[in-house]
Amino acid sequence: MRDVTKMERIGAHSHIHGLGLDANLEPRVNSQGMIGQGKARKAAGVILKMVQEGRIAGRAILMAGPPSSGKTAIAMGMAQTLGTDVPFVMLTASEVYSLEMSKTESLTQAFRRSIGVRIKEETELIEGEVVEIQVDRSVTGATKTGRLTLKTTDMETVYDLGSKMIDQLQKEKVLAGDVVSIDKASGRISKLGRSFGRAKDYDAMGADTRFVACPDGELQVRKEVVHTVSLHEIDVINSRTQGFLALFAGDTGEIKPELRDQINGKVAEWREEGKAEIVPGVLFIDEVHMLDIECFSFLNRALENEMAPLVVMASNRGITRIRGTKYKSPHGIPTDLLDRMLIISTGKYDQTEIREIVKIRADEEDVRLSPDALELLATLGQKTSLRYALNLIAPSQLLAQRRKLTSVEVEDVKMAYQYFCDVERSTTYARETSGMMFGEEEITNGHVAMDTSA
Ligand SMILES: Nc1ncnc2c1ncn2[C@@H]1O[C@H](COP(=O)(O)OP(=O)(O)OP(=O)(O)O)[C@@H](O)[C@H]1O
Ligand SMILES: [Mg+2]
Repeated sequence: MRDVTKMERIGAHSHIHGLGLDANLEPRVNSQGMIGQGKARKAAGVILKMVQEGRIAGRAILMAGPPSSGKTAIAMGMAQTLGTDVPFVMLTASEVYSLEMSKTESLTQAFRRSIGVRIKEETELIEGEVVEIQVDRSVTGATKTGRLTLKTTDMETVYDLGSKMIDQLQKEKVLAGDVVSIDKASGRISKLGRSFGRAKDYDAMGADTRFVACPDGELQVRKEVVHTVSLHEIDVINSRTQGFLALFAGDTGEIKPELRDQINGKVAEWREEGKAEIVPGVLFIDEVHMLDIECFSFLNRALENEMAPLVVMASNRGITRIRGTKYKSPHGIPTDLLDRMLIISTGKYDQTEIREIVKIRADEEDVRLSPDALELLATLGQKTSLRYALNLIAPSQLLAQRRKLTSVEVEDVKMAYQYFCDVERSTTYARETSGMMFGEEEITNGHVAMDTSA
């Protein structure tokens, strides 16, 4: 999910690069694309700190607040702050309903996707500065053999090369004077940089050339490499019916509980041997009121599992019906689950904050707004909603371009305001024209009765 948000250059939240907190977790006024909502941002920061210290797995947080008050935005900020090693999985509650998988299976998969397993491996590497590469081609050119001379400050050794290694050296454009690292098991070559000793050899060198010192000591070194995979990835790779290709296709289907048990056992074994570490990540469930009572009772239980992530949920509903029951409760969440949660509330923005957010979004969308147009958008945002104001930026720009202007003026925003209704005007319109539009109660016995008397 994270990758998709990176690709979407001007998605709704592409201006957000973090939570905008300082080292003491105090919210900065305008930082990393974040404006206002200080209390909620700070709370999110405190929670992240606990996640990073591995202290808060198996808890649930609820972000509750009116529409467009930055709940999803704060979740995106959290994802950006966590770092690449800690999983952050985003799910919209309605994604749980699918024909291919039961609801609990897709929640289980989401849970397991949010738990990272950091696996430590020792590998043997050969690291040194290239002294010479010699390649001998046979007469037909079909076979290649060669020799690679590597040195450290203390020793020098000649290695025989096969054709695969020669191809790799050529692909990486390795030259004498480069410092390289070769993985002994896989034979993979990576260039670490150019040796300082050769810095003066060439006068034409790219600005991005990195100079490194010639390594000292032995050519062969042992290094610890660490990779992090999620529990779900381990499940998929080990499920015989799926195979790892399913990771790319995405349709993993259901995974057998026995297999999960086996994997849990194996991971526990690795942990005891010190080969692996569990990294509980964050699972974000947006629009959580869309989950039904079965999902909620599953969550109650799943949160108590020792390998549970931190679950962050968001909802913009007040007292509403819990899906699958006739009971009402705050945010459509059963009270026994609510009782286990920490609740962060987000509030409406004032006009100054809306102005700043509009300004950031306009920059993000490469739109120039005149000061008056910006002020008008901020006023509109205050009167209608922040989303509406943000949505008007692009149409206003188009209208300005039609008039051959390089920046958006008040007139363009006014025009856009006339062309596109906000929720309030749309509701009024729907009321006024209720007789002419299809409504639920007008469909009787399979055919539509239209009442045009209004
Ligand atoms: N504090 C903020 N700083 C910068 N941009 C923000 C902030 N809050 C919201 N935005 C932007 O405003 C828009 C609406 O906010 P967002 O989608 O986060 O609202 P929401 O609370 O999730 O609403 P809903 O309940 O309707 O899902 C988004 O484009 C978001 O990036
Ligand atoms: Mg949202």
